[in-house]
Amino acid sequence: MKLKRDQSSSQFIAQVRDLSLQGLGVVDHPEGRVYFVPGVWPGDEGEFVIESQSKTYGFARLQKLIKASAERRSQIPCPYQGHSPDSCGGCPWMLATDMSQLRAKEQLLRSQLKRQGFSPGEDFEIGPIWPSPQALGYRNRAQFKTDGQKLGFVSAQSQELVEVEDCLVLSPQNRQTLRELRAQLPRADWRPQPGRRWSSLDIDEDLKASEVVANRRRPFRQGNSSQNQRMRQWLRDSLSPQSRSAPVLELFCGSGNFTQVISELGFQTVWAVEGRGQALENLKALRLAGVQTMELDLLAKGSVGPMAQSASSSQILVLDPPREGFPALKHWLPHFPHWQDIYYISCEMGGWGRDAATLREAGFALRQVQPLDQFPQTPYLEILSHFQKI
Ligand SMILES: C[S@@+](CC[C@H](N)C(=O)[O-])C[C@H]1O[C@@H](n2cnc3c(N)ncnc32)[C@H](O)[C@@H]1O
Repeated sequence: MKLKRDQSSSQFIAQVRDLSLQGLGVVDHPEGRVYFVPGVWPGDEGEFVIESQSKTYGFARLQKLIKASAERRSQIPCPYQGHSPDSCGGCPWMLATDMSQLRAKEQLLRSQLKRQGFSPGEDFEIGPIWPSPQALGYRNRAQFKTDGQKLGFVSAQSQELVEVEDCLVLSPQNRQTLRELRAQLPRADWRPQPGRRWSSLDIDEDLKASEVVANRRRPFRQGNSSQNQRMRQWLRDSLSPQSRSAPVLELFCGSGNFTQVISELGFQTVWAVEGRGQALENLKALRLAGVQTMELDLLAKGSVGPMAQSASSSQILVLDPPREGFPALKHWLPHFPHWQDIYYISCEMGGWGRDAATLREAGFALRQVQPLDQFPQTPYLEILSHFQKI
């Protein structure tokens, strides 16, 4: 939808009544239109300025906080947090207490389920959210940007490079790596390539600062190690009653984080599919029993063809797609008539909700939904879910 920048001096006073799936505050204009606002929390009362709008909704910014929500923190621990052009923007929810962030994530999931026509309690269980053991200091990997002179993150607000000396959500080891990388500035070989604004520096707990190479992307890794262990345990517990002779198809397997769990449980036939060759190489190096790997762009049109040929006998589907979810799911379902149980791990509520509705229309019942907080201080939520053919 096209949004127009508002020319009039349109200010209004309102109370934040909700949060959107993207984690923005929701406020109602006195004349009825809904506005989305960054950097606010339900219960805040403020003066807002309209930034852009369509016929039905718009975006606004907080001009003045009149009354702070009782759920706001008294002090925000990070100097780079905020929504100004020179804030990093990576932790938009750090303004609220850890407990209220958890409540908000649960509430957003319940609203999403309702929107998609699911009613918790009737035929499926929704567990209380699993909080991260650490609300700060949990991130085992990150990507910095550098122009060779400065090093930091790209501001969500201004799309400019914001220099950071420290980052509180990084694990202690990664904070040390950040300090060591900064000590190497300026570096001519970190200057951006032609046509690029910055170079990327991927860091990881398995990597020393001296091993970091500009623009060398590392394969995906779940960003919070202790919460990843809980996700793996959830999958282990969920799969364990299944017959080990049921063939398993795993989509978006990455370097084999969940494939390892499936193989170690003793499933005899596992097809593991992923789009990034380097991740698959990592998986192959694990030499997991029963696992056949396949490199495939699963979001490309027609990707179902090769899989329908080799894995049409699969009875169990495990999938952990990127943020966009798996929009092709509805085209895949007719090719896999034996799918009985689907374990869907998701990092994005919008795509998951759409795919959950697709599964229901195809005759699958939602049996379990377990929310898990992998990224405190952000609106991101992991959803661990189990669907079963009726
Ligand atoms: C959320 S990660 C999950 C990876 C793995 N399950 C794990 O726990 O580490 C999503 C994976 O999908 C892969 N991916 C992204 N786009 C893809 C595509 N178009 N086709 C196939 N795989 C893709 C990424 O490389 C990444 O490994």
